[in-house]
Order: sequence, then structure tokens, then C-alpha cells
Amino acid sequence: MSIHIIHVVGARPNFMKAAPVINALSKREGVVQTLIHTGQHYDLEMSEIFFNDLQMPKPAINLEVGSGSHAQQTAEVMIRLEPYLCDLKPDLVMVYGDVNSTLAGALVCSKLLIPVAHVEAGLRSFDRTMPEEINRLLTDQLADLLFTHSAEAEENLLREGIPREKIHFVGNVMIDTLKALLLKAEEKWPLQSSRFGCDSKGFALVTLHRPSNVDSQSTLAAIMKTLNEISRKIKIIFPVHPRTRKNLEANGLKPEGANLHLVDPMGYLDFLALQTHAALVITDSGGIQEETSYLGVPCLTLRENTERPITITCGTNVLIGNNIASTLGYINQILSGKWREKKVIPLWDGYAAERIAEIIVSRSLKSWQNL
Ligand code: UD1
Repeated sequence: MSIHIIHVVGARPNFMKAAPVINALSKREGVVQTLIHTGQHYDLEMSEIFFNDLQMPKPAINLEVGSGSHAQQTAEVMIRLEPYLCDLKPDLVMVYGDVNSTLAGALVCSKLLIPVAHVEAGLRSFDRTMPEEINRLLTDQLADLLFTHSAEAEENLLREGIPREKIHFVGNVMIDTLKALLLKAEEKWPLQSSRFGCDSKGFALVTLHRPSNVDSQSTLAAIMKTLNEISRKIKIIFPVHPRTRKNLEANGLKPEGANLHLVDPMGYLDFLALQTHAALVITDSGGIQEETSYLGVPCLTLRENTERPITITCGTNVLIGNNIASTLGYINQILSGKWREKKVIPLWDGYAAERIAEIIVSRSLKSWQNL
């Protein structure tokens, strides 16, 4: 008997989560896989470059939904995905993370009675102003199989009434990818180091793209002002997300100091090389809070909350809130070598995807639906 599994991915943070799962399943007998890209992210640096870096198969189908409001984007994925699922009749669809494509995929499947697996289930920021939080809550309600990366995630799901039998604590698939590609990323370091003229631990890496930080003119202007100030202490490398780039341009905000490098978004390997060698990271990304925690690199998160509290309790992450000026004190602390050590995080060990593959192949597909 063969199992047909469709993976639905759409945005940058999905790709590094799906890659190890596809790889682990490809080693199992009787598993047929189809990769569908919704096209939520479509720029070369936001999408295609990752398929090369992650050595992922190219998507068999691209729905090319592109940008739009949340309703438009989510609806467009649903409308374009449905006929493929009706036609291909998969046994299971896998969705990843918390982007609009994740929820859209889960919704279509639930109406077609196709079992859905959610990888990275149970994360909660408890902040419903974040579109991702709505996507997480609803996807988890619809999923038949929920793969979690931390004990807190399981607690969140149980509190929301998800039956325990549907939940599997498997670990962190992003860390699978990071571990697998760390040596390859290291090969990229000399080029990055000479590109920016920086030594290991001699620079700060910045990424910002959340609407709460980049959509308001005054917040973005304050961020750029503080980054200028920080760049007098330490060189800054800031790969700029298209949303942030657009808002910087619309508001006439330009980088000032020679020590502040705003560059195009980077591929996975180049970015990982920089992350590994950074003295510190300033970010509002979810995944980067996890990667820095694993790498032991100090991380200052420009958000009021995090859906990944384990990066604070066991990792190297600190929540700064929305006032970037308060990073200055923390940066002095980091540069004088006073930062807490990372701890080992359970099951962030490089084998999460293997655990997922094992659970999928060893279960009767019908039984997921009946849970
Ligand atoms: C999406 C995810 C977010 C994730 C982020 C990572 C949702 C709700 N949000 O946010 O959780 O952290 O991806 O990047 O799904 N754009 C381009 N080229 C692209 C993609 C986007 O120019 O390839 C521009 C478009 O103008 C678009 C804007 O960026 O309107 C935002 O893109 P969108 O996919 O809507 O959300 P992100 O902010 O990327």
C-alpha cells in the first residue's frame, strides 16, 4: 500500500520546516509525495533561493497567489488549491508554521475530509492582533495530527481541548535543517566576512518585518534612528524584507552611518553563516529566536510577546518590547560578555523530522480521521 502525502508551503519560513520532513519521508517505502507552493512569497530571494540552499525538490505545482490583503491571500490559496486536492486525492496533507498559506491549506482539507498534519502546532503568543496567532489557533483546531516542538505547545493544545492522542511531541524541524546545513553554511562565511569587512563576533545582525514594527512611520523612523546609534558601537548587517523595504522607501527613511549595511534578503546558507558569527541578533522573527537559542547567540526580540517562550527560559532570547531604544543597555551587556549561556532544549536534536516520518508511516491513515 502506498501513502500519498501533499506538502503545502507558501512563505519563506515554511521552506526550512518542510525540507527535512520531505527528506525523511522520501526514505520510507511506499510514500509518494507532492510539493505544492502557494506562491505567497514569490521573489527569488524570498523563495527560489531556498529550494537550492535546502536541496529541496522543486514544487510540482505553484498556485502563484502572490500578495494581497489577508482575506484575499487566504481565499486565493483556498480557491486555487481545492481543485488540485480534489484531483490528486491525497491521504494526508502537511502544513507548516503559521502563515496564511498554512491556514488556507488546513481549511480546504477539512472541508474535503482530507486528513491534515500541522508541523509546529501549539505555539501561542496569546496576542490575537497578530495574523499568525489566528492562523495557529484555527489550523490547530482543524488538524488531525499535531506535531509539537516543546512541552508548552502541548499544554496550549490540551487547554484548547485538542485530544491528547492527536498530539505528538517530536522536536524542532527547523533545528534539523540548521544542524544538517551548519557546515555548508560555514563555507559561506569567508565571503560574507569580506563582503561586509567584519570579523567573527564583530557585528550585529538585524531582521525586522512584522507589521507592528515596520508598518507605522513613527515606529520605523525610531528603529532606524536607534540602529544608527547602535552602528556607532558595532557594525550592523540588516537584510531587508520586501515589506520593510517598501515602507522605508515610502517614508523616505535611509540608512545613515557607513557601519549600517542594508542589503537584500539572503538565502538560507548565507544568513545562517552570519547568524553563527554574529555578536548578537536583533529581530522580530519567530524562527530566528529559535535558531539563535540553538546557536547560543544573544537575541534581542523587538516584540511584546513570543509564541516561543522556551527561547527565553532555555535559550538566549530576551523580549525588548516595542521600544528599540532599550536595546542599547542590553547591547552593552552583551558586548562586555555578560549574557546567559544556552541550555540544551529537549528534542531540538536534529531528528524531529525522522520522528514525524515514523509516526506517519506507522499509523493507519483512517485512524487519524476518526480521532
Ligand atoms: C509572511 C507571514 C509571516 C512570516 C513572513 C516571513 C503571514 C500572515 N505572514 O509575512 O508570518 O513571518 O511571511 O517573511 O502569512 N512581498 C514581496 N515579495 C515576496 C513576498 C512579499 O515583495 O516574495 C511583499 C509584498 O508587497 C507583500 C508584503 O511583502 O504585500 C508582505 O508579504 P506577505 O506574504 O503578505 O507577508 P509577510 O510580511 O512576508
